Amino acid sequence: MTDSVMTASVTAASAATVLITGASGLLGLNLSLSLQDKTRVVGICHQTHLQNTPFELIEADLTDRQRLEQVLNSVKPDAIVNCAALAGLDRCEENPELAQRINAEMPGWLATWSNNNGCRLVHISTDAVFDGVTGGYRETDPTHPLGRYAITKLGGEQNVLMNNPDALVCRVVFYGCSTSGKRSLVEYFYNNLSAGNSVNGFTDVFFCPLFVMDLSNILWRMIQRRLSGLYHVVSPECLSKYDFGVQVARTFGFSENLIKPISWRDAGLRAARSPNLRLLTGKIQNTLGEAMPDQAAGLQGFRKQVEAGYPTYIKSFVKMV
Ligand SMILES: NC(=O)c1ccc[n+]([C@@H]2O[C@H](COP(=O)([O-])OP(=O)(O)OC[C@H]3O[C@@H](n4cnc5c(N)ncnc54)[C@H](OP(=O)(O)O)[C@@H]3O)[C@@H](O)[C@H]2O)c1
Repeated sequence: MTDSVMTASVTAASAATVLITGASGLLGLNLSLSLQDKTRVVGICHQTHLQNTPFELIEADLTDRQRLEQVLNSVKPDAIVNCAALAGLDRCEENPELAQRINAEMPGWLATWSNNNGCRLVHISTDAVFDGVTGGYRETDPTHPLGRYAITKLGGEQNVLMNNPDALVCRVVFYGCSTSGKRSLVEYFYNNLSAGNSVNGFTDVFFCPLFVMDLSNILWRMIQRRLSGLYHVVSPECLSKYDFGVQVARTFGFSENLIKPISWRDAGLRAARSPNLRLLTGKIQNTLGEAMPDQAAGLQGFRKQVEAGYPTYIKSFVKMV
């Protein structure tokens, strides 16, 4: 893409309406908050009722295709970022039909609508489409999902790219502040370690999480560049969940001795975990011409947010009913 074409698409995207599904979730809410001063944001939430957000909100059950299309036809977005999902591994095992509908079928409906209406689609997928046996996965590597969550998320990727070949699919993993204060692994470590509680940390599950605000900024740049196809959008630095906890402790000056190293196999979890989800980031780094943030940079960003009172700010959007 030439510079002049790129500038034109940046300008077009800046004036655009971006519809963000899952706007009450960990990624969707942080992304909506980070984009709302750059463009018009319309968020969709469902069972979590929000109030006083600095962006527009619509409540809708996206498993209802008619309702989804009614919302799309009334908002007429220029771009959609699909962050809605049944994202809990164990919840997907317990509700396989719901997981199939929201994680696999609904993204395909968004893809059909966006393809027919000249709308950009960014679909958020997961590192868990791989079984984690070897690690070091590229976008071109074969997938092998373990468990209902991963199977349905892979189905979502396939339905999106089949129904809209220009869509952008991002496999991500991230952490940050949520409305519940406990959706994210960083909140689990921060909440417990700051209270002096001991916690378990898996030494045999490896991942490459990005701080959600860094991910939000990268997604925005990808939208502006009108990228399409499949990308791994994770940190280039992979670490175990135990080591992540240790880094959280060091970032805030908490005692690392509170973190007990254990195997995920001893934790009594229902859904299988992929042990090594190291995803390679060469494609996105080459395309954007910049390095993805490492763990120290991301956790410093999280620390600054905590010190600025962001956890309380984000909870303030939840309407008590
Ligand atoms: N968290 C991670 O580290 C991680 C890792 C890999 C991939 N991902 C992917 O990243 C995306 C965002 O994950 P997240 O952690 O932000 O998820 P989350 O916090 O669990 O939020 C899920 C969102 O989906 C919405 N949703 C669920 N069912 C819906 C329905 N029937 N109709 C409308 N909205 C519905 C929820 O709305 P209500 O709460 O209002 O019902 C909520 O806003 C997902 O695609 C997930 O698979 C996440």
